[in-house]
Amino acid sequence: MIREMRAAIFDLDGVIVDTAKYHYLAWKRLANEYGFDFTEADNERLKGVSRVQSLEILLEIGGLTFDNAAKAQMAARKNEWYIDYIHHMDASEIFPGVIEYLQRIRVRGIKTALGSASRNAPLILERLGVSALFDVIVDGNQVTKAKPDPEVFLRAADELGIPPASCIVFEDAEAGIEAAHRAGMGTVGIGNSYILKEADIVLPGLFELIVISVC
Ligand code: G6P
Ligand code: MG
Repeated sequence: MIREMRAAIFDLDGVIVDTAKYHYLAWKRLANEYGFDFTEADNERLKGVSRVQSLEILLEIGGLTFDNAAKAQMAARKNEWYIDYIHHMDASEIFPGVIEYLQRIRVRGIKTALGSASRNAPLILERLGVSALFDVIVDGNQVTKAKPDPEVFLRAADELGIPPASCIVFEDAEAGIEAAHRAGMGTVGIGNSYILKEADIVLPGLFELIVISVC
């Protein structure tokens, strides 16, 4: 299906910036404290998934169960470690091509939105200084259903005033690609084409789109 892209909706973690490595380090630290290992392959399952669901997956990997109060404390500790990493971030960590691509499509009249599951998105955008590149920002503080539910992307499209069929989602997570398709949107997978096999197309990063569009 060929679509006219009237809006581009970007995931944050793993598309704009590599926060996935900080999520991984913080979850791994938690797992190690509870006596089990957590690998980078395990971490793939957490990409695009909410904080609460990520903890459930982590505990399933460790074969552990806790009550809700203990789980809330564990998630809060992980988030404190994660935020320590975020506070050290700056614009130099933005992936190559991101700012140029966003600027280029905005000049052409294409609307832009952030569609992230992260409740830390406002802090990350502030550290990177890129908030002004998005017409609309929807993050984990405004949605109740995590990807692969389409809520975050449908809300972004609604706030932009663009029909879902004219939106393209840029995503690095399987759950995010599924969410976008369930929203009726096109998808560009960012990262590994084996992992993102359901995406309409897969690119290593937004930098490649800049290169393609000047050829
Ligand atoms: C993104 C990441 C997930 C993370 C989620 C919630 O979607 O890909 O790995 O669990 O956001 O992030 P938060 O910053 O709210 O813990
Ligand atoms: Mg992501």
